[in-house]
Amino acid sequence: MKQPKSYGTTLKLLVLVVVCCTISINLIPIHANPISSIEFNQAVDAAMYDVVSSSTFQQYVTNVIGFLVVPICPTKVEYPSRWPVSSSISELKMCYDGSSYIPQPWPQIYHEVGNRLMDALNKHYQMTMKAKFVPLVMNESLGYFENMKFAVESGQCDVAVADTTYTEERATKVKFSACPYGVTMNAFLRTDLDNTTLTGINELKHLNHSGINVTYYEGSVFETIAQENLQAATKFPTNYDNQYTLIRQRKVHAVIGDALDQVTWLENNKKECVGCYIRTFGLGGKFGVFTEATNRTSGSNSFHQRFPKCNGLQFLSVMILLMYVFVQAFEIL
Ligand SMILES: *[C@@H]1O[C@H](CO)[C@@H](O)[C@H](O)[C@H]1NC(C)=O
Ligand SMILES: *[C@@H]1O[C@H](CO)[C@@H](O)[C@H](O)[C@H]1NC(C)=O
Ligand SMILES: *[C@@H]1O[C@H](CO)[C@@H](O)[C@H](O)[C@H]1NC(C)=O
Ligand SMILES: *[C@@H]1O[C@H](CO)[C@@H](O)[C@H](O)[C@H]1NC(C)=O
Ligand SMILES: *[C@@H]1O[C@H](CO)[C@@H](O)[C@H](O)[C@H]1NC(C)=O
Repeated sequence: MKQPKSYGTTLKLLVLVVVCCTISINLIPIHANPISSIEFNQAVDAAMYDVVSSSTFQQYVTNVIGFLVVPICPTKVEYPSRWPVSSSISELKMCYDGSSYIPQPWPQIYHEVGNRLMDALNKHYQMTMKAKFVPLVMNESLGYFENMKFAVESGQCDVAVADTTYTEERATKVKFSACPYGVTMNAFLRTDLDNTTLTGINELKHLNHSGINVTYYEGSVFETIAQENLQAATKFPTNYDNQYTLIRQRKVHAVIGDALDQVTWLENNKKECVGCYIRTFGLGGKFGVFTEATNRTSGSNSFHQRFPKCNGLQFLSVMILLMYVFVQAFEIL
């Protein structure tokens, strides 16, 4: 006698579960990154102002890399009055290019920036959130910037803390923090090729002669520099790794690039580049952290903002429980 009744209940319950799921999935707007909002971006701006203005951060950068400059930030941004992220979220994901060829001290700097950013936010909003670092596996076919952009849009990452160089074009696609945390120096590395005959190369213009072979990372800002300053030299644009192969093989006289990258490489490869040296020639691009470019306000943001104490699964469970009670009551009648 009991069997058909409980069988019927199970069936109804199953149908209800399906209905509940459909309703909750359709009613709750699912944003790929539930944290992203105008106010969150503003909070990051305000906190990055505090980070770059701190003398201990400037000191840290000077200690780690002597010639990297932390630019003075003229734009002080006010923190939004309340923390614009749901209290159910206890960590901010900070990402960077996780490729093994990114040398120290860069990953160390990314962690320092991420931790200081988190500290500034925690201090202002009296929170105890944690910074979670996410070294990204890069999709080679997308390139550096598109990988990082995809990460903040998909929610894999909340703040891209790597040293992404600011450009007008990139600024239309992501939200760069108002205060950059560094400016690189441009440099050239003079290789061991013809090191006894071709001497006294100390300035960029000394490379502007026929018979001098230079290389650089194709498509980078260094290509523009070479084209504008080294018309007389023979140019060999190449990919990032191959620049260093050409140095080792003594195929080129100089490599145009980022000073820190070159210093790091030379420190690790001094044995293969005995007489090599580096000369800087001016400030490169400003770089900083970025978040997703968005027009969403934190109030309208997502399920988490509307039901801050509750996550989707809890919401679903409560609905199913209510339906179950309802069905039971119905069966009794
Ligand atoms: C990398 O990106 C390309 C282009 O968007 C895509 O077709 C491919 O599936 C991606 N590869 C991986 C491993 O994600
Ligand atoms: C520089 O490049 C030119 C053109 O490819 C080449 O003929 C020459 O041998 C190179 N010079 C050296 C020193 O390798
Ligand atoms: C480089 O050398 C070429 C040939 O001598 C000259 O025309 C050009 O103006 C030089 N470039 C710069 C930036 O001085
Ligand atoms: C020039 O380069 C060679 C390697 O090709 C190296 O053995 C030598 O010490 C270098 N000379 C100077 C003066 O740096
Ligand atoms: C935000 O709004 C502006 C103006 O309506 C629009 O141009 C821009 O594309 C929007 N940005 C995003 C990320 O939706």
